[in-house]
Amino acid sequence: MSADFLVIGAGVAGLSFALRAARYGSVVVLMKGGAYQSNTAWAQGGIATVLPDGMCSSGDGVESHVADTLDAGAGLCNEAAVRTIIGEGAATIEDLMGYGMEFDRKDGRFELGTEGGHSHRRVLHTRDTTGLKIATALIEAVRETPNITLLEQHVAIDLITTAKLGAVADDRVLGAYVLNAKTNEVRIFRADRVVLATGGCGKVYLYTTNPDSATGDGVALAWRAGASIANMEFIQFHPTCFYNPGATGPEARSFLVSEAVRGEGGILINAKGEDFTLQSDHRGSLAPRDIVARAIDRELKRSGADCVYLDITHKPKGFMPERFPYIYQNLLNFGLDCETQPIPVVPAAHYQCGGVVTDVAGRTGITGLYAIGEVACTGLHGANRLASNSLLEGNVMARLAVADCLHRFAPGKPVPAAPVIPEWEPGNTAEADELVVIYHNWDEIRRLMWDYVSIVRTDNRLRRAAARLRNLGKEVREFYWGHRVNADILELRNLVTAASLIVDCAVRRKESRGLHFTLDHPGTAERLRHDTVLRKF
Ligand code: SIN
Repeated sequence: MSADFLVIGAGVAGLSFALRAARYGSVVVLMKGGAYQSNTAWAQGGIATVLPDGMCSSGDGVESHVADTLDAGAGLCNEAAVRTIIGEGAATIEDLMGYGMEFDRKDGRFELGTEGGHSHRRVLHTRDTTGLKIATALIEAVRETPNITLLEQHVAIDLITTAKLGAVADDRVLGAYVLNAKTNEVRIFRADRVVLATGGCGKVYLYTTNPDSATGDGVALAWRAGASIANMEFIQFHPTCFYNPGATGPEARSFLVSEAVRGEGGILINAKGEDFTLQSDHRGSLAPRDIVARAIDRELKRSGADCVYLDITHKPKGFMPERFPYIYQNLLNFGLDCETQPIPVVPAAHYQCGGVVTDVAGRTGITGLYAIGEVACTGLHGANRLASNSLLEGNVMARLAVADCLHRFAPGKPVPAAPVIPEWEPGNTAEADELVVIYHNWDEIRRLMWDYVSIVRTDNRLRRAAARLRNLGKEVREFYWGHRVNADILELRNLVTAASLIVDCAVRRKESRGLHFTLDHPGTAERLRHDTVLRKF
């Protein structure tokens, strides 16, 4: 199969790219699962945007949004990237509304919410299902676009590049080997422009707000292809995942209680009713996420409690069902009325701030290979992402990536002849007889990452994690080459790679900055104010 553009992943970034690119050529979009299994579809908060004068909060402006983003990023943001992406906010809202997306309004004006680290109300939203509404609008538009082929249950195995085929002088992407998970067939998907839009790697951790699909696929594919990866130590933990020990199924275990609830006055308290977050930062429950997550971690360790509480009971009756109907109803389904009871919450892995090194147009070091959205590391987030900046980044990067593709290699322009691409090398074709190995390794990776590489780290814990992951990586490789490929093996292979990249970056950062906090190096060192960049070859 071949196309002008091959897009791997179908969140806001991949779908925005596909819709725009389809004006200029044929597009294939690969999805591992179904259409709504993306971090975008699960996003509750909204899109942080500064609108033109008169439509934004009084006193707000692009400069304030830039300043808040830089402040959250703890010295590691790329200011030029921040300015470009934040400056495109109004264009993003216009682009999404062009596909039928609507944002909540009051008296004809956009209703603006807020979250941790924002100095003004600037988060456009659709109640508490903003991401689902965006995903729905974009997927409907994609399904109506004849130039786009949307393929569910298709898993990218490896990227095909000229360097991998032995031509080292000009490293160019040629497509990908792809598994059809329904038929278990592997095919070559040929394209001179390949876009990784696979989202993040929350499933690397035992507790996460991410869907099951978030297994670090894009980072792992890019790593194996020889692209640079940076800042994987900066994994953002969301402070308020619903604590639900009896939960069965990923959606119940990973149920997020949006930070926008704190934006509307929700306060984090301990079992005694004390607002413990004020000891860490004067902004209390609305400080940036790294600070709040660490405050909760400290409180849990100090008190020995299993969870803390998010209290919104002081709001007038009717407020929660009106402003946060999805959260309100889900909590009721779990037996909790948040109008009268504080919500038990714990932090959980939420967002990958590092990723494949790119510019704001998603260009990687491999010609024709782009990475956009959460999978990319543009420098927008630095050492900690400002809440609700990521749907914005996904759409902006998609638009800039299409423009860059057209500028460099528009469909129809001649490209150097591609070498012959060999058929997929299947390794041993024995059926995977011991799936228990996959499930055991999967659980072990997630637990060890939670125990050794989560909110608070030490040199010792990181060393242990690195050693264990090396062994797990070897076992997974043996299993991968020893058996017929299937979607579970592919995810496990990517998961162990993403986990190893997180640990390898964390080991190198001998300071505490943003989301990386280590007891052995508690201070921030000016000489270490640079990205952690890794390359396989
Ligand atoms: C949330 O609704 O709390 C998540 C928003 C985000 O992570 O940007």
